[in-house]
Amino acid sequence: LQASDFVVSQLLIGDGERFKTLGTAEHAIGQLSEAGLERNDAVLALGGGVVGDLTGFVASVYLRGIAFIQAPTTLLAQIDASIGGKTAVNSPLGKNLIGSFHQPSVVLIDIETLSSLPSRELVAGFCECVKQATVASRKLFVETRDFLDRLRSNRVPLISTELQKLIAKHCSFKASIVAGDAQESISRTDRRSRRILNFGHTVGHALEAVTGYRRFRHGEAVGLGMLVAGELSKNLGLLEELELKSLREAIRLCGPLPRVDDLDEDTILDLISRDKKSLSGQVQWVLLESIGHARILDGKHVTRRLLKHSLRSSWREI
Ligand SMILES: NC(=O)c1ccc[n+]([C@@H]2O[C@H](COP(=O)([O-])OP(=O)(O)OC[C@H]3O[C@@H](n4cnc5c(N)ncnc54)[C@H](O)[C@@H]3O)[C@@H](O)[C@H]2O)c1
Repeated sequence: LQASDFVVSQLLIGDGERFKTLGTAEHAIGQLSEAGLERNDAVLALGGGVVGDLTGFVASVYLRGIAFIQAPTTLLAQIDASIGGKTAVNSPLGKNLIGSFHQPSVVLIDIETLSSLPSRELVAGFCECVKQATVASRKLFVETRDFLDRLRSNRVPLISTELQKLIAKHCSFKASIVAGDAQESISRTDRRSRRILNFGHTVGHALEAVTGYRRFRHGEAVGLGMLVAGELSKNLGLLEELELKSLREAIRLCGPLPRVDDLDEDTILDLISRDKKSLSGQVQWVLLESIGHARILDGKHVTRRLLKHSLRSSWREI
């Protein structure tokens, strides 16, 4: 940027979710002010989803909003977090509790950055790829699963044109959903509503919470959450067994997931019933009718007994 005559100042933040706070945002705003940033300047987020969410939030409130650019460096941030303009910081009362919608002006993705990404972060990112592909279309699902299959059998390197193309397809799918429902309308339940991107998240959030946000990377918890949502869809008679098998296989190809068999089912069920995406006290489930066809279902159709049974059967499959 300097070589292109931009005046640049840098700000580093601490690594990890625990730095995605109002305190860090306030510190960052102070730095922007000291550096003399004006309304026609921009902030660039270089990092994973934590940096992206925090930078977006700061850019949305500094001088009532300045431009920002996403340069995501994790797989999760490249296919998901950098696109769609959701910005947030955490509060002691909840994850992403304070935030805004502020679209980035540009998203710049260089997949070479992934060559240094730890393998667990890749597994988590691939789980998010599977999530997105499963609710997108059979075509994107098959392309994602085939890439994972070839990667796992060393028939394609990670840093490859194939991955670049796959990421571009994921970005364009997410952008198309966001373009039609930018603020995630709570009244929409159709297949193009932004809420379908929460597939796997109801159980995923409960798993993260029950382990104090210490055991799972977010994508890993979503991977496990998708197994339960798929099982539940089958048990409700919405999804064919064969489709569930394909979903399980794709999740397995993402890589090893942390153990869950030692977690208390009743605590997980209690947390699910308090999911923050609930509406009028009812959990809103994103379920599947087939690969590529999500369905949003009100929690009143899901009994605690059925959910417990689905949890148990999913855990047995891991
Ligand atoms: N805004 C959205 O729509 C949206 C969507 C999904 C997730 N999120 C948010 O994204 C965050 C999770 O993002 P994440 O998974 O990218 O986590 P992260 O930003 O914490 O990054 C994961 C780890 O990878 C490291 N890292 C980043 N890039 C690297 C690279 N190229 N090489 C080596 N290490 C690298 C980071 O320092 C960190 O330790 C959460 O806060 C979540 O709430 C936001």
